[in-house]
Amino acid sequence: MLPPVDLRPPFGISRSSHARLCVTDLARSRDFYTSILGLVVTEEDADACYLRGLEEACHHSLVLQRSGEGGEGGTARRIGFRVLFEEDLDVAYRYFADQGLPAAWADAPYQGRTLHVSDPIGTSLELCATMETRPRLHIDFDLHKGASAQRLDHFQVLTPDTYGLCAFYSALGFRNSEYLEHGEELLGAFMYRKGTCLDLAIVHGSGPRLHHFAYWLPDGARVSQLCDILAGAYETDRIERGPGRHGITNAYFLYLRDPDGHRIELYTSDYLSVDPDFEPIRWNLHDSRRQALWGGHAPKSWFLEGSLVEAFDGGWVKVEESELQGLPAYVR
Ligand code: CO
Repeated sequence: MLPPVDLRPPFGISRSSHARLCVTDLARSRDFYTSILGLVVTEEDADACYLRGLEEACHHSLVLQRSGEGGEGGTARRIGFRVLFEEDLDVAYRYFADQGLPAAWADAPYQGRTLHVSDPIGTSLELCATMETRPRLHIDFDLHKGASAQRLDHFQVLTPDTYGLCAFYSALGFRNSEYLEHGEELLGAFMYRKGTCLDLAIVHGSGPRLHHFAYWLPDGARVSQLCDILAGAYETDRIERGPGRHGITNAYFLYLRDPDGHRIELYTSDYLSVDPDFEPIRWNLHDSRRQALWGGHAPKSWFLEGSLVEAFDGGWVKVEESELQGLPAYVR
């Protein structure tokens, strides 16, 4: 059973927008994201690098921030969502504050008014309505490199309380395209706002942690082309899983780990979900087609590892362990 969805939520989150990651070596990470993913640098200084995908008009969808504290899997500083209107930010501030959740206005370069909040499990979020814009580069084919990543597509987070977090985002208008259950227990909620399959996947596991963020590719051929590029560069150890095809969302995928261990999914071929009258697709934990219709088995690291989440006031959010995560039915 899924929690009820508020189709007229109190404020309008429109899509997953950007991620802020801590990296230990800014130059090394910059090289990874530009030469392997094909992102372009919009702006950079000694402490931060602002990147965007080729079709993105927004100033950035990924901000790499220098940090000397890259722990296991690195640290995810914030995940960002866009809201449609300025006034949505004011409503959001009151909404989070009324629930006793952290909320504070922040100064974020190249963005309009920016609100920092945390969801109930402690994931630090960033909301804004506007950002500086730059020309889209999707038809500047001479500039395309690596996987030619076009746009940020979604985040996946891990939490032991899948249902509780799904209920929180359902109240903000996030709907499920698909979901995963073990008996009556909700283990995966694949949620969206923008009308495709995903903006936020919530999956059972020790958390809060950021499992991955995904960039959308124009076609599956870029995935195999990228594997060849990695082979030519003796960098195939960056590949953690794939290529393959998930049953859930029909995604053609490849998972990479960046130099700090942050996981990136390269993703294509999902479907539209804007109509209000369809039923989310239910998957059973014991149906292995859910996570791979074909392709090699996922390594245990894919199930068990993820980036730590920076707390609202700095430091890391303590990870609550999941008892279920290590069960054989889960890890396959
Ligand atoms: Co994904």
